[in-house]
Amino acid sequence: MSEKSGVGINREEGTGQGRKVVETETGSGFTNLDDFLAEVEEAIRREEREIYTEKTLEEAYNPKNVGKLSNPDGAARITGPCGDTLQIHLKVEGGRITDSKFISDGCGPSVACGSVITEMVRGKTIEEAFKIESGDIIAILGGLPEESVHCSVLAVDTLRAALEDYRSKKKENGRI
Ligand code: FES
Repeated sequence: MSEKSGVGINREEGTGQGRKVVETETGSGFTNLDDFLAEVEEAIRREEREIYTEKTLEEAYNPKNVGKLSNPDGAARITGPCGDTLQIHLKVEGGRITDSKFISDGCGPSVACGSVITEMVRGKTIEEAFKIESGDIIAILGGLPEESVHCSVLAVDTLRAALEDYRSKKKENGRI
């Protein structure tokens, strides 16, 4: 009996003298591991495209502003109820945010949200940055599935904690 699996492998069992023969299919099938892995990756991307917008996938796979700032003026790290942690650093000059970096150990959407929110804050005053809401991030991403909305909330909560950190540091220094 011959059975063709979905990954281009022919399996023949009980042939010959009780031998089990497993052959790699040539011709219409995959001839090497790279082809197989490319097909698996494409299948995963197809599934992801059914769940997430192109913009979300773009930001998740190619995030901007990943990393840390040396001597940030404001910093915060929050672990959400899902167990994922987001960190945001801010640089503030002349009352405006001039740079921002993030690190996420979490899901793809949290990376996308970190990328978007660190772009959004650039050039904003502290007060303007406080007004950013999760809905603003979701709008830029073109939508998020319901189960990923909390990832955008984590990004906003972390940003606001970093802004609070900036304010408290300034208070300590007697500048506000
Ligand atoms: Fe935890 Fe997305 S699942 S931040």
